Amino acid sequence: MKTEIREMRREDIPNVMILEKELFPTSWKEEMFIEEIEKQYAFVMEIKDKIIGYICGWKLLDEFNITNIAVASDFQRKGFGNALVRFIMSKLLDENCFKFFLEVRNSNLAAIKFYTKMGFSAIGLRKKYYHSPEDDALIMGINIMDNIKKG
Ligand SMILES: CC(C)(COP(=O)(O)OP(=O)(O)OC[C@H]1O[C@@H](n2cnc3c(N)ncnc32)[C@H](O)[C@@H]1OP(=O)(O)O)[C@@H](O)C(=O)NCCC(=O)NCCS
Repeated sequence: MKTEIREMRREDIPNVMILEKELFPTSWKEEMFIEEIEKQYAFVMEIKDKIIGYICGWKLLDEFNITNIAVASDFQRKGFGNALVRFIMSKLLDENCFKFFLEVRNSNLAAIKFYTKMGFSAIGLRKKYYHSPEDDALIMGINIMDNIKKG
């Protein structure tokens, strides 16, 4: 399946929100996506003009925080999530940004396995960070320069 990754635009938000509401117990609000678009790191993945996934985050010096990533249920386990993370890593590497962090619900074992397979390690826990339902946040990170050096 041929995919395209491009910058998220304001007019994408209604379609992004449909996925967001399906995929997360507590979904982001539209304004949060607008903010990410303004901060310049918000991308959608499309197949034949249909949005099937997205990734957002923000950069501070040489660190990038992945704030959201999702792939539509029908398209999961096909490598698209991996492609979204690799896309953002390659883009940020070009901007001399090597360290990536994220927070994930400690109960979201699928996402934790996904990030672990991508080379992220657990580096901390924020107690009761999430609500509805209450959950701890596992903080995960990777320095892609270390991985590049290891080959
Ligand atoms: C997490 C998510 C983005 C992964 O996207 P994806 O396109 O399905 O992931 P990939 O196909 O690239 O998976 C790569 C690897 O991650 C692991 N993985 C992904 N989903 C998994 C699952 N449900 N259970 C176990 N391992 C999983 C596997 O090792 C997989 O490789 P494999 O299929 O060869 O075994 C997707 O499951 C999703 O959108 N979930 C709902 C939203 C969410 O939880 N986002 C993360 C918030 S922090």
